[in-house]
Amino acid sequence: MRFDLLTLFPAIFDGYLTQSLLDKAIQKGLVDIQRHNLREWAQDNPHRQVDDKPFGGGPGMLIQVQTTVEAVEAVEAMDSRPTRRIMLTPQGKRLDQRLAEELAVCPRLLILCGRYEGFDHRVNDILEPDEISIGDFVLNGGEVAAMVMIDSIVRLLPGVLGDEQSSWDDSFSRGNRMLEFPQYTRPRSYRGHDVPEVLLSGDHKRIAAWREEQIRTRTAARRNDLLEP
Ligand code: 6GU
Repeated sequence: MRFDLLTLFPAIFDGYLTQSLLDKAIQKGLVDIQRHNLREWAQDNPHRQVDDKPFGGGPGMLIQVQTTVEAVEAVEAMDSRPTRRIMLTPQGKRLDQRLAEELAVCPRLLILCGRYEGFDHRVNDILEPDEISIGDFVLNGGEVAAMVMIDSIVRLLPGVLGDEQSSWDDSFSRGNRMLEFPQYTRPRSYRGHDVPEVLLSGDHKRIAAWREEQIRTRTAARRNDLLEP
């Protein structure tokens, strides 16, 4: 799967792209993540400026339409695979596990990371990207949101996680739309807190039933919205 990131701050991704899981997925050839600095497509001006003040007034600066459209067209032409275009913005549809699963089957994602007050709205009219948000709060830019989105997608790609770490049973995943049951390891007792007796019983039917019960009671107590969508 190929990701093309369009950003004014490509260096923000340095540490993330070299961390263990992602680095391994890149080394194995399972993902290819290309960063592109929007400034390379700056219109002809002395300071390679890519932003300007909003018409009608207001605070902040907007990323200009020509730069963005020309950057997207040039980046798309770098590879023949069809691209799904994504713009990261707090105005977008909320990212959840279902959306991550849907995106994980795309051969290629192009991700526009906004800064400042965002993009000139004609970027949306012309490129018609899917607008995605990672939650109801405001970040300084789309870069951190892009890392969140890429992280949720990459771990779903076949071969990225070992079998022993399958993503199937994760909370919110295809196999489990509810929260996970609690888990314990040694020691059996610590500061008066004991591992639940059932987990030490060796009775696999009782253990499975206890875990099912935990999933249900936990989800009801913490995230009742997941039980009746
Ligand atoms: Cl995708 N971008 C920004 N700037 N803020 C956000 C966001 C995205 N998602 C939640 N807040």
